[in-house]
Amino acid sequence: MAYFITVEGIDGAGKSTHLEFIQNYLNKKNIQNKLTREPGGTEIGEKLRQLLLHDDMDVGTETMMMFAARHEHLVTVIQPALKSNISIICDRFTDASYAYQQGGKGIDKSFIKSLEELVHPNLTPDLTFLFDLDPDTAHSRISNERNLDKFEKQSSTFFNGVRKVYLELAEAHSRFLVIDSSQTIDQIQQIISKKLDELVK
Ligand code: TYD
Repeated sequence: MAYFITVEGIDGAGKSTHLEFIQNYLNKKNIQNKLTREPGGTEIGEKLRQLLLHDDMDVGTETMMMFAARHEHLVTVIQPALKSNISIICDRFTDASYAYQQGGKGIDKSFIKSLEELVHPNLTPDLTFLFDLDPDTAHSRISNERNLDKFEKQSSTFFNGVRKVYLELAEAHSRFLVIDSSQTIDQIQQIISKKLDELVK
């Protein structure tokens, strides 16, 4: 059985730290897997990622470009892997389009829904970890680390909108596990392990 696991959260909520942990967990259980990311995960997708993270554009263009990258990723990486019994751990997926382009930038939900139905009508993640943290704390975690990209430079109003939509999605879909990212890494990894134990049992 191949699993499709996605990892979400506002920038700075700590998802990167835990992606490797999730992969190590699957490796230890001898579950073949691939760790990938969006936007990106393919040669074309990584080129689109450069534009998406650094160039200003209309939010409609941005949303369609996220889905163009996603289509390439689905067709060339995600679907072939799942068919070959290889699990996918994806650093962000369509939930991020709702959270960032709708919640952050205000595009109509129906615009994203239409693209979702067009690009992956029959595929949803089996499990989604949502790392949740208040935007001010999240921002202070990233701001002294590195040069910030276009999204990371957004205001706390933007990130409050992103967070709100993520939490609404989590309420609406049982595939979500919301993790309070203000906990210690050990506490969080215990929660992740427990959830993965349930998934793969
Ligand atoms: P991120 O996943 O945070 O990577 P890193 O940890 O290397 O900075 O960066 C991707 C950014 O793209 C993030 O700010 C969220 C944004 N994004 C969207 O706005 N919409 C989407 O559909 C996706 C997948 C990502």
